[in-house]
Amino acid sequence: MPMGLLRPATALALTAILALTAILALGCSDDSKKSAVTCEGDLTTRTLPELIDTTFPIGPIVLHTTGTTTTIMWESEDPCTGEIVYGAKGAPLSRTAAAAINGRIYKAALDGLKPGVEYDYRARACDLETATLTFATAPAPTAPVRFAVIGDTQSHPEISSTAFASMKGHAPAFIMHAGDEVEDGTIRDQWRDEIFTPLRQLGHYVPYWSTMGNHENNAQFYYDYSDNPYTGIFGEPARGAFYSFTFGTVFFLVVDTNNFLLGLATYEESDVTDWIRKQLASEAAQNATWRLAIGHHWAFSESWGHCDGIARFSAIDEWLMPLLEEHDFHAYFAGHTHAYERGSAHGVTHIISGGGGGDLDHWCRDIQEVEVTQYRHHYVLADATCDSLTLRAFDPTDSGEPFDTVVITRD
Ligand SMILES: [Fe+2]
Ligand SMILES: [Fe+2]
Repeated sequence: MPMGLLRPATALALTAILALTAILALGCSDDSKKSAVTCEGDLTTRTLPELIDTTFPIGPIVLHTTGTTTTIMWESEDPCTGEIVYGAKGAPLSRTAAAAINGRIYKAALDGLKPGVEYDYRARACDLETATLTFATAPAPTAPVRFAVIGDTQSHPEISSTAFASMKGHAPAFIMHAGDEVEDGTIRDQWRDEIFTPLRQLGHYVPYWSTMGNHENNAQFYYDYSDNPYTGIFGEPARGAFYSFTFGTVFFLVVDTNNFLLGLATYEESDVTDWIRKQLASEAAQNATWRLAIGHHWAFSESWGHCDGIARFSAIDEWLMPLLEEHDFHAYFAGHTHAYERGSAHGVTHIISGGGGGDLDHWCRDIQEVEVTQYRHHYVLADATCDSLTLRAFDPTDSGEPFDTVVITRD
């Protein structure tokens, strides 16, 4: 499998042809799905401050957030003690959360919060203190939300920075990364330069969740810089590359597909697959308005491997996708291919969003299940309302109109 290789430059001629022939699908619909929780209200977004705080080399970045808790991560030049001071928006910062310290990395867990509410905070360490920044807790499971998906930000922070700036203009409530945040996860500086510096403009204000790509190399830094909810698999410390969360109307299952592909677990029978099945059937998933899954590797791709590589990952194509269908999931997101590809299989929408910054791939082959392929740097914005899940793909260098839209509907 040709993982970890630099990608060739975009084949401009092919891109031009495909840009003309790609389908800009509007108003497609998927099978209707069921939900036990009443969804109500309209989609609302926050006004996100422009301020980018550079007090610390990394962060503060808002990580795993629920209706009553959040974790904020940052990194200092030197190891010190650290804390977050916080309070309701506009009120005095009267509460303090001491940070757990791992070398120069700080993670502070804030609790006792109220759902769907904004809070002000400041991060402190080494006699330094950030400006006042603001996050919001997760709204109730009945509330529509807007979120963003981006993947493969590796190698070109100047491009991913533009993508995050464009994304910020839409004020998503949270960000989901499809993996390959950095080119080599074992190199510490890349975490600062290739993901957290471009992300900071948005990560100060909205939660960021990540997926394990192959370029993270299962490095300890992935775990040190994230705070994914503990899943109880792969032992201690919490190797949180498999996790799930609920945020408003959305249930997200996050899968470390490297473990399927690299043989750390077989996908037929293992603790991991037992855990996945339980997540898919869980009350949180089945009660959600929208059931979504994400893993770095796709089921199929028209553009992978310099055209002599694999076109399908059987663990995803033949095992996970049918399982998602069985549990009424609506969409599976992936990265890995540095392009945008949209299709469907087993009644589940299949989106590759791997155009966050890495060198773009080019077209190799026709895959029957793929309807749209575009070779652009991009991100996907998702509006998860009561009636529909609208996915729009944006090229940050465009004028602001999405280059692809698909609407998944419910009863
Ligand atoms: Fe990648
Ligand atoms: Fe990858």
